Amino acid sequence: MKLLVIGSGGREHALAWRLAKTTGLQKVYVAPGNAGTARESRLENIHLTDPHALADFATEQKIHLTVVGPEAPLAAGIVNVFRARGLKIFGPTSEAAQLESSKDFAKRFMFRHNIPTARFATFSDRDAALAYVDRQGAPIVVKADGLAAGKGVVVATSLAEAHDAIHQMLPPECAAKGNDDPPAQVVIEEFLEGEEASFIVMVDGTNVLPLASSQDHKRISDGDTGPNTGGMGAYSPAPVVTPEVHARVMREIILPTVRGMAADGMPYTGFLYAGLMVGRNGSVKTIEFNCRLGDPETQPIMMRLKSDLLPLLEHAVAGRLNLVEATWDRRVALGVVLAAANYPGKPRTGDLISGLPPSTEDSHVFHAGTAERDGRIVTSGGRVLCVTTLSDNVKRAQRRAYELIAGIHFDGMQYRRDIGHRAVSR
Ligand code: AMP
Ligand code: GLY
Repeated sequence: MKLLVIGSGGREHALAWRLAKTTGLQKVYVAPGNAGTARESRLENIHLTDPHALADFATEQKIHLTVVGPEAPLAAGIVNVFRARGLKIFGPTSEAAQLESSKDFAKRFMFRHNIPTARFATFSDRDAALAYVDRQGAPIVVKADGLAAGKGVVVATSLAEAHDAIHQMLPPECAAKGNDDPPAQVVIEEFLEGEEASFIVMVDGTNVLPLASSQDHKRISDGDTGPNTGGMGAYSPAPVVTPEVHARVMREIILPTVRGMAADGMPYTGFLYAGLMVGRNGSVKTIEFNCRLGDPETQPIMMRLKSDLLPLLEHAVAGRLNLVEATWDRRVALGVVLAAANYPGKPRTGDLISGLPPSTEDSHVFHAGTAERDGRIVTSGGRVLCVTTLSDNVKRAQRRAYELIAGIHFDGMQYRRDIGHRAVSR
C-alpha cells in the first residue's frame, strides 16, 4: 500500500513519519518533501506540486490515500481535483477552506452561526478603516484578508501602530489598480485577552474526532515578544485546555462550525484547527480557523499519537469518524523550532547543518526548511528544524530538547530558550 503526503514542512515530515509506521505499508511519498523526509526509511520525495500532476501520479501509482499539509493547495482546490477523479484525499474543498483563506468569510460565518469570536468590521476603504480604529481606540487588531501565514496580523497597542498597519495593508495603489482583482481588504478586530491554545480536530463532514490539545509560541523572541512567526515551538497537551474548556470548545465552537458548514452547503472534511483565546473565567473565543494541522503543533501531537494514523484517516474519508477513537501517550511532547538567519524576514539559505542527533523512542528532529546539496544538509527556508521530545513532564521534555539542540549547528541559527514556559508555570 502506498500513501501520499503533500507539503514540505515539519508538519508534513511528522505526518509522513507517523504514517510510515503503519504495518503492511510499502511507501509514503512526500511531495515535494525536504531533506528529512528524503532520509527517512519508507519515505520518498517526489518533485511535484501541480494538483493535476499530483492527481496523475496518485492514479498511476495507485495511491491508497492522500493527505494535504499546507493551506495553499487546499485553498487552490486540490481536494476538488482529486475527488473529481475518484481519488481518496483528506482535506477540505476550496469552498470549505475559505474558513482559513478568507478572514472575512470566517468572521461572517461565525457571526451567522453564533460561534464566539471577536467583534469585527471589514474595510477596503482606507479612510473608513482609519476612522473606525479612531472610534474604537487601542489595543486593536488589524488583519490583512487572505492567506498570510500568520504574518498578516498586527496587534496594535496604540492608534499610531494601527494606522501604520492600515497604511501597509491598504496601500493607495490598490484603489487605483482598476483591474479585475478583488480589492484588498482589512479586517479590524476587538482585542481579546487570555491565553491562546490550538484545538485541532478531524472532521468527516458530520462527525468530529478531537486530537490532543496543544499550544504554540507565535512570537520570534523569548517572553513572547517581537514579530509574529508561523510558530517557534509547541507542546502537547495544553494545560489551559482543561476538561471543562475542552467540553465548551466542542459545544460552542467545533460542533456548531461543522453543522454550520454543512447547513451552508460546504460540508467540512479535513483537519480543522481552531485558534482559541481562553479567558480567565474559562470562556472560549475563536481567534481564527485554519483548514489544516498546525505547524509546529503537529510535531508534538504526532509524537504522542499511539493509535495508528492511517485507520483514522480512512474512517474520516469514509465518513465514519464516529466509529474510531485516538489514544495518546500520557507523556508531554515538546518541540523547539530552529530558524534561519533573518527569519521571520526573508531567511538566508544554504547554511550547512551539522550535529543532527539520531532519533530515539522519545526524540525526533523533524525537518522543515532543509535541502540536500552534494550529500550534505543545508538550510532552505525560514523554519529549519523542529527538535521534538517526549518526557514525563514539560520541564524534562524541555531540558531534553535543549540538550539535543546544544549539539546542532548552522550559521545564523536562532531559537527561543523558553518553549513551554506557560505550561511550566501552571
Ligand atoms: P491569526 O493569524 O488570526 O491567528 O493571528 C495571529 C496572532 O495574532 C494570534 O495567534 C494572536 O496571538 C494574535 N491575535 C489575533 N487576533 C487577535 C485578537 N482579536 N485579540 C488578541 N490577539 C489576537
Ligand atoms: N502554528 C500556527 C499555525 O500552524 O498556524
